[in-house]
Amino acid sequence: MDVVIAADPVGVARAAADIVARALRHRVVNLGVATGSSPVPTYQELAQRAQRGELSFGHARVFLLDEYVGLSRGHAESYHQVIRRDLTEAAGIPDSRIEGPRGDAADLIAEADRYDHLITTHGGIDLQILGIGTNGHIGFNEPPSSLSSRTRVVALAEQTRMDNSRFFDHLDDVPQLALTQGLGTISEAREIVLIATGARKAPAVAAAVEGPLAARCPASILQWHPRATFVVDAAAASKL
Ligand code: GLP
Repeated sequence: MDVVIAADPVGVARAAADIVARALRHRVVNLGVATGSSPVPTYQELAQRAQRGELSFGHARVFLLDEYVGLSRGHAESYHQVIRRDLTEAAGIPDSRIEGPRGDAADLIAEADRYDHLITTHGGIDLQILGIGTNGHIGFNEPPSSLSSRTRVVALAEQTRMDNSRFFDHLDDVPQLALTQGLGTISEAREIVLIATGARKAPAVAAAVEGPLAARCPASILQWHPRATFVVDAAAASKL
């Protein structure tokens, strides 16, 4: 595992975008994307580089990491819509090349299996972008999560619902369940870049990088990955 420490979120965005740009030059086709606020500056940086013609998403297919259960694809806070707003519209990636689990599927267990297999059918994820929850979650793999877990339905931790309530009118509107790629699924990505900024993330970053590899800190599984890079700012690195 590599750790890159930038001075501030702007430096993080540049460093993370450099990793994605390098991968795109090697004709990455399958890009795994996380939602949340941490990768947004990186997405903006990537979209600007694409608009300037410095890189191209022409061969990229985007795969969502997770999705809220109960929200349709058209819901403003579905991760499908969030990634359109935060990345794909500005980067020129058409909707037909966004893949994700359907949070409004009638049979959620079948939907989780379908999505897990879809990733494999497309040849796997070439580069996965991740954020990290304040409790060490990646995707919606809350602690404790089996290190070999596959895409599945999960209950959200109360901490996560509170953290994410800023995107909804009321805490009660935050879904209780989600579909998420599992830790085993995420680990199969050929390369992973985890982005974290701000002092609130410092304990989770320290636990993931320096703590034991354990189900109680899902992000610690990245210690095992042959090509995982944490790109963090000085505040998020302050407990390393
Ligand atoms: C959600 C997402 C995660 C993301 C996390 C952190 O829970 N499912 O993929 O990493 O939020 O979000 P933020 O970057 O806004 O702190």
